[in-house]
Amino acid sequence: MTRTRIAVLASGSGSNLQAILDHLAARSQARHGDVVLVASNRPDAGALTRADRAGITRVVLQSPHAPNGVDLAAALAEHRAELVALAGYMRLVPPDVTAAYRGRMLNVHPALLPDFGGPGMYGPRVHRAVLEAGAALSGPSVHFVDEVYDHGALIAQWPVPVLPLDDEHALAARVLRAEHLLYPRVVDAVASGEIRLGDDGRVVRARFPHARLSVMDPSLSDASLAAELDLQLNRPS
Ligand code: GRF
Repeated sequence: MTRTRIAVLASGSGSNLQAILDHLAARSQARHGDVVLVASNRPDAGALTRADRAGITRVVLQSPHAPNGVDLAAALAEHRAELVALAGYMRLVPPDVTAAYRGRMLNVHPALLPDFGGPGMYGPRVHRAVLEAGAALSGPSVHFVDEVYDHGALIAQWPVPVLPLDDEHALAARVLRAEHLLYPRVVDAVASGEIRLGDDGRVVRARFPHARLSVMDPSLSDASLAAELDLQLNRPS
């Protein structure tokens, strides 16, 4: 089986990148993709260090932080990327690239889109907005990327409880924990072709029967949450 060649774009610490690398390694022969490129617009991004540790090719993309960086489209072409996963990538992807990767570019957003999304809604601001709105639930949204920020077709959302004593840090940590379990599973399923974007713009899913998963129980261990998630995600449509 030829595995899908995955590129991961990240601007920050790369904990989602790490979760993807760890999940694919754990799935071993059953995995459907391999990360072949890590790219960042920040020369100092932790994600690049994680790529080095994993022995994966990494590039710095041309940006105000890196005037001598490489062009995104050229880097994706040179490394024959077949699927692109945005993992905390803080720059808008140029429309020619989102068009070229229609149905082959994913993003994870740390809130339940379409709420609390769009330009400027990233990092602690998202969780502050959720708390200020008095929402009872938040959680990661994984979606296909199109030319409008945080707007592409939703693949999976995992609601996470907002607790009475939450501040933005506690909520961010709970959502990030859910991201680390959900995103790698979605990336692998899209890499397998079991989830794809139909010509009509709707998600075609042989797995992940419903975009909205049952609410996470944060008292469970990661292993129990992963087992529960796998049961939900692998139920045939
Ligand atoms: C995550 O919260 C993700 O939802 C958002 O950016 C953050 C990335 O964190 N898109 P990391 O760099 O993967 O640790």
